[in-house]
Amino acid sequence: MVGARPQFIKAAMVSRALRSRDGVREVLVHTGQHYDAAMSAVFFEELKIPQPDYNLEVGSASHGAQTGRMLADLERVIQAERPQWVVVHGDTNSTLAGTLAAAKLHMRVAHVEAGLRSFNRAMPEEVNRVVADHVSDVLFAPTDIAEANLKAEGIAPQKIVRTGDVMLDAFQFYSALIADKPLPAGVDPSTPYVLATVHRAENTDDPARLRAILDALLAVAKQVPLVFPIHPRTRKAIEQLGRQEHIAAQLRLLPPVGYLDMLNLERHAAVIATDSGGVQKEAYFSGVPCVTLRTETEWVELVECGANTLVSPDDSQAMAQTICKRVGQRVATGSLYGDGRAGARIVDYLLASAK
Ligand code: UD1
Ligand code: UDP
Repeated sequence: MVGARPQFIKAAMVSRALRSRDGVREVLVHTGQHYDAAMSAVFFEELKIPQPDYNLEVGSASHGAQTGRMLADLERVIQAERPQWVVVHGDTNSTLAGTLAAAKLHMRVAHVEAGLRSFNRAMPEEVNRVVADHVSDVLFAPTDIAEANLKAEGIAPQKIVRTGDVMLDAFQFYSALIADKPLPAGVDPSTPYVLATVHRAENTDDPARLRAILDALLAVAKQVPLVFPIHPRTRKAIEQLGRQEHIAAQLRLLPPVGYLDMLNLERHAAVIATDSGGVQKEAYFSGVPCVTLRTETEWVELVECGANTLVSPDDSQAMAQTICKRVGQRVATGSLYGDGRAGARIVDYLLASAK
C-alpha cells in the first residue's frame, strides 16, 4: 500500500525482497495521494517498482475528505483480494487509511517504519503514526529509539520487530547505480552548494514562517549557491506569497527531482537544509551535515550524534547562520539504521507468519 513519494522509495525495497521469493504474490495498491509525474511515475520507472495493481486516484483534498475516499476504496480492494498481510509504510494519510481499512476488515496489518515520534500532535504525520502503530499487528521498528517509543506506549514487545531502516536499503542499492551520473540541471559538483527541501505543512501553510524560511535561504544564497528542488505544495505557497520571481532569481529552483537525481544532489552537497524526514537520514548516509528547519525531529539519534542540527523555522537569522556554519563539515556515518537488509528481514517475518 503506497500513495506518497517517500512510500514509493520504502516500498521499492520491500517489493524487491518479496519478488525475490518463490510463491509470493504482491498486490500493489497506489492510493493516488501523489499523482504528478515528478511525484509518482518517475519513482516507479527509475526504481523499477511494478506498476500498481490498483490506482485509486484519490488526489488532493482536505485530510478528512482525502482519507475518507481512500478508506472507502481500500475497503473494496482488500475485500476483493483478501491478502494474508496488508503492509503500510511511514506516516502519511495513505498509511492511516490503509491501516484502518485493513484492521476494520480483521486483516493483519504490518507497519514499516513504526515507532517514530515527534511528540507533536499538531503534525498530521504524528496522528497517523500513533494510530497506525496502535492498530497494526506487527511493528517493524527501524531503530532502538523507535522500539523504546512503542514499548513506552504499552505495545506488546512480541509485536515489535527490529529490522533497521528500509531507506538505508534503498540508499545502498540505488547509490550503486549512480556512480558516474551527472548532477541534474547542470549543477556543478566542484562548486560547493547547499541543497534545500521544504514541504512540511507547518512550514508552508504559515505565511510568516514560510517567509522566514525563504529569507534564510536567500541570505545563505548570497554566500553559497543554493539548489532547491521544490515540492508542489511549497511552489503553490510561494506563489501565494507573491515572491516567486524574487526567489527564482536568487535560488536555483528545480522541479521535484527523481530519487536517483536526489541521491546524487545529496552526496555532492556541502550541507543539506530540510524539513523532510527521509532527507535527514540520507544526509547522514551520505556523510553530509544536515540542518533541520524544525524545532523537533523523529530521528533524534541524528541530533544526538551531531550529524543533524535543529533550528527554529521562525528565526531566519539563526537558520542562515547555522546552515552557513555547517557548510563542508563532513559527518561520520555509522550503523544507526541497521545494515541495509531491513527489506529482507521484513519479508522473512511476513512469510514465516503467513496463514
Ligand atoms: C504528504 C504527507 C507528508 C509527507 C509528504 C511527502 C500527509 C498528511 N502528508 O504531504 O507526511 O512528508 O507527503 O512528500 O499525508 N500536490 C500536487 N501534486 C501532487 C501531490 C500534491 O500538486 O502530485 C500538491 C497539492 O496542492 C496538494 C499539496 O501538494 O494539496 C499537498 O499534498 P498532500 O499529499 O496532501 O500532502 P504533502 O504535503 O505532499
Ligand atoms: N526526494 C526525491 N526528490 C525530491 C525530494 C525528495 O526523490 O525532489 C526523496 C528523498 O530523497 C527521500 C524522499 O523523497 O528519499 C523523502 O520524501 P519527502 O521529503 O517528500 O517526505 P518525508 O520523508 O518528509 O515524509
